[in-house]
Amino acid sequence: MKRTFLAIIASLLCLTVSAQGYVPTEECLKARQEFNQERFGIFIHWGIYSMLADGEWVQNRKNIDYEEYALLANAFYPAKFNADEWAALFREAGAKYVTFTSRHHDGFSMFKTATSDFNIVDGTPFGRDVVKELADALAKNDIKLHFYYSHLDWHRLDYWPLGREGHGVGRPEGKDGDWQSYLEFMRTQLTELLTNYGPIGAIWFDGYWDKKNDYSYKELYDVWDMEAEYALIHKLQPSCLVANNHHVAPYPGEDIQPFERDVPGENTSGYLTGTKVSSLPLETCQTINKDWGYKIVGSPYKTIKELITLLARTASKGANLLLNVGPRPDGTIPDKSAALLREMGAWLKVNGESIYGTVAGCVPESEWGVSTQNGNSLYLHVLKGTDKIEIPYIDNKIVSAVALQDGTPVKFSQKKKTGIVIDVPAFDESCPDYVVKLSFRKAL
Ligand code: GLC
Repeated sequence: MKRTFLAIIASLLCLTVSAQGYVPTEECLKARQEFNQERFGIFIHWGIYSMLADGEWVQNRKNIDYEEYALLANAFYPAKFNADEWAALFREAGAKYVTFTSRHHDGFSMFKTATSDFNIVDGTPFGRDVVKELADALAKNDIKLHFYYSHLDWHRLDYWPLGREGHGVGRPEGKDGDWQSYLEFMRTQLTELLTNYGPIGAIWFDGYWDKKNDYSYKELYDVWDMEAEYALIHKLQPSCLVANNHHVAPYPGEDIQPFERDVPGENTSGYLTGTKVSSLPLETCQTINKDWGYKIVGSPYKTIKELITLLARTASKGANLLLNVGPRPDGTIPDKSAALLREMGAWLKVNGESIYGTVAGCVPESEWGVSTQNGNSLYLHVLKGTDKIEIPYIDNKIVSAVALQDGTPVKFSQKKKTGIVIDVPAFDESCPDYVVKLSFRKAL
């Protein structure tokens, strides 16, 4: 009797596990928690497309023949690439991790791979493994390395049948591809990425949506054999998180929910129509100008005010900001990008405690700005000039109120009837985000 009972319980447990699919390990849960404290990362889109200075979609947009495009590699020589300088800049910017395009849709690998010569070490006169150099430089600066990795490919012949992109780049169509070989190619590369470069914080997939028109999203999971791909990642490095920029709610095996050009829940970009915000760690990715890959004209920069506002608004939703820069073909970060990153770092140096390690604030977004919180502290990010902030009463005594930038005491009143009223001191309008810190007697 007891045995039958145990057998029933065991089978029920099995059912639950398979229905839920993925059960994250302890290491993974710990890594998720750490990620959720980091709040600011740098995205890097860099590849042979950077030479054409027209964004990372240039091959597809201009229908450049895939064999002709590949010859770009023969001239790729980023003579000024210096991983230590990049790492120093990202550290100064206050970034906690860097997500690097190991291989974008053009199929060119920016790391040494045994799968083909179409990579930076074997296929360019430069011959250096920039990923190895970057991994070492970031590790020295205590910055984590994540990899962007494209599912979509405009180069390989086994990427067949094609999805909705890449029809104009001259690959012979109508032949039988060998989809299984493409899947194996990706697994070999992921194994290389997760074996040769030390601890990797996350794999950030993109391009899964390419086959969206032919299959439902549920079928796509099997077409790409995501279960095996995710399991491989978690097996090779249990603390490596998985994000997939597929623009729908997360699937089993994923640890981060990414939002492309959107603060979670807003859907202003239109990519995430109907997507619910999950309970996974969240990440918003956005460009510092208008484009991901280097673009020499027509890519206006965001202002420091816009960038810090975005950082504060993302943090106020409990999400990280992954801010993109597109290095030049010579390996340098454009001056304007570098200057903006330094300005962000300067602001974070003073106001960092209102961003790092915080969670979404209990005061909802208002006319004047947003809030974040951590333990006993509530941070009011004043993004729009105002002399008074009124927030609902919180039944927890405020013991002090100061301006975070210089400790100036801030006048306030806290009454059940009128709520909490804060007199915002006059501040320099050039300050992108003036933070008022309220300290409460008990944790919020
Ligand atoms: C889009 C683009 C891709 C870019 C990515 C970053 O999916 O296709 O080029 O890398 O967004 O979020």
